[in-house]
Amino acid sequence: MLEQKILNIKTRATGDIKKSQSEKGLFDLRVKYLGRKSEFNKILKSLKNLSLEEKKKIGPLANAVKKEIGEEIKNAEKIIKSKINLETEKIDVTAPGKKIKRGHLHPLTIVQNEIEDIFTSMGFEIADGPEVETEFYAFDALNIPKNHPARDAWDTFWLKPMNNEQRTMNNNKPVASDRLALRPHTSPVQARYMRKHKPPFRIIAPGRCFRNEATDSSHEHTFNQFEALVVGDDINAGHFKYVGQEFFSRFFKKELKVRLRPSFFPFTEPSFEFDISCVVCGGKGCSICSQTGWLEIGGAGMVNQTVFEAVGYPRNRYQGFAWGFGVERLAMMRYKIDDIRLFYSGDLRFIDQF
Ligand code: DAH
Repeated sequence: MLEQKILNIKTRATGDIKKSQSEKGLFDLRVKYLGRKSEFNKILKSLKNLSLEEKKKIGPLANAVKKEIGEEIKNAEKIIKSKINLETEKIDVTAPGKKIKRGHLHPLTIVQNEIEDIFTSMGFEIADGPEVETEFYAFDALNIPKNHPARDAWDTFWLKPMNNEQRTMNNNKPVASDRLALRPHTSPVQARYMRKHKPPFRIIAPGRCFRNEATDSSHEHTFNQFEALVVGDDINAGHFKYVGQEFFSRFFKKELKVRLRPSFFPFTEPSFEFDISCVVCGGKGCSICSQTGWLEIGGAGMVNQTVFEAVGYPRNRYQGFAWGFGVERLAMMRYKIDDIRLFYSGDLRFIDQF
């Protein structure tokens, strides 16, 4: 009789669970069928009064049914929950979208990309060199004398001496000195490239440089330069002047003139400082060019034959021109920025303007 009672409870419970539509309903059913005051619990409690034989029969049945009812309720709860999720996760395609904040290129990157575009369209290749440079490439190969002040610790950030592993990475090249520095200019890339390539070639080498100096509105310890180098059988200063004029006219999107003034760099002979006609007044004279009509741009010259020798070319076999100057200066002229320190300041009020 007890057995029948238990089976009846099970049938009723299963029917009720199937009909239940809500989490609350299922909760109530759990109380009704399995709770402390439930008929089922009363039966379980009364088991202790049964004979041993009956206990053996009814006990396991009662437990199995209790477990089954519990599981049926649990499953029904899961189904209801997943239905609720589907309803709340409905997508309202008419709701206004969230605006995603997009970043943008740094002004120096914009300018560098433009420089690269102009030069590659003129048949130049882009070369690269390390920011940590050996004293050989940074100074010796460029014919910079041993006692030159640029080698001084006050101008150059020197690093600890090279160890054996680094010497191996340097292809065991005989280096005049093992000292390592943060490169103070991009000119070492000239020597690195020439050691690996035979003329004719034309390259530019943009990149970061470092100098151990006090900063002000036109000096920064970390800055970018780009180097240009063209070498062949009969390259002359006229080629330099033409390439310079073409580049700056395209960069500033107006016809500009290039002017050379005699100067001195150990790695060029002869050497020039070069100017472009003022991008603001066109050469008439204004406050930007201090009434001179010209803007100083950078250094250049015909590659010194001693540099060719240092990279393994025969003396007087080739001719070439080289130039180098600051990318920041170009960006400052383009965007009318009056303090170089803004570029690396991380100040979003500045950066967000580009
Ligand atoms: N390396 C020089 C500097 O940092 C700039 C320079 C001058 C580069 C003349 C050249 C050059 O290639 O021919 O001041």
